[in-house]
Amino acid sequence: MPTQIYSPPVTLPRLHARPNAIVHVRRACMGDVPRLYEIINYYAVRGDMLPKTMDQLYNRVRSIDVAEADGEVVGCAALHITWADMAEVVSVAVHPDFQGIGLGRRLVEPLFDEARQLGIPTLFTLTLQMGFFSHLGFREVPKLHLPHKIWQDCTTCFKQDYCDEIAMVREMFE
Ligand SMILES: CC(C)(COP(=O)(O)OP(=O)(O)OC[C@H]1O[C@@H](n2cnc3c(N)ncnc32)[C@H](O)[C@@H]1OP(=O)(O)O)[C@@H](O)C(=O)NCCC(=O)NCCS
Repeated sequence: MPTQIYSPPVTLPRLHARPNAIVHVRRACMGDVPRLYEIINYYAVRGDMLPKTMDQLYNRVRSIDVAEADGEVVGCAALHITWADMAEVVSVAVHPDFQGIGLGRRLVEPLFDEARQLGIPTLFTLTLQMGFFSHLGFREVPKLHLPHKIWQDCTTCFKQDYCDEIAMVREMFE
């Protein structure tokens, strides 16, 4: 079977979905991955978030939620479990046409319920979007307050020597 080569997008393809369309949040499936790759890496090439490979997205598809409008993926968020008592909110992105209408909140808040159901007391995120995460109840902490375990991912991150992301945490049972 021929391998399809994907390269990071410089622009996002125009959506058919109308900005006033009804949006559903659901678990991602395999068919969503190429669009997830486009949205996440569109922001990643601008330095807004970390990039994801197709491989990583397929591997983690069961933990990614998507927002779908008119049959198209217009946003995403995921929970990445780090250890018994901690999980990371990752890959939060909303297509520019759908920003500012509460979709980021609709994608992230269900992750709180999921964390509580799993018995995970603390969520954290590493982000440049402090304003957004503050509105969702996260507070800034010194990066070194996060446990050593979370730095495993940093060893393969291209930002490891000049990380500009802010660490934020949110308690789930307060
Ligand atoms: C960050 C992002 C996901 C927000 O999505 P969104 O759908 O526009 O956010 P919402 O409309 O759900 O906003 C939720 C709340 O956060 C606030 N908010 C959103 N973006 C904000 C910002 N940049 N600064 C301050 N507050 C912000 C909103 O005012 C809203 O507040 P309220 O619900 O208390 O009234 C979106 O801007 C995005 O995709 N950015 C590019 C990718 C990115 O940087 N992702 C973060 C990776 S860690």
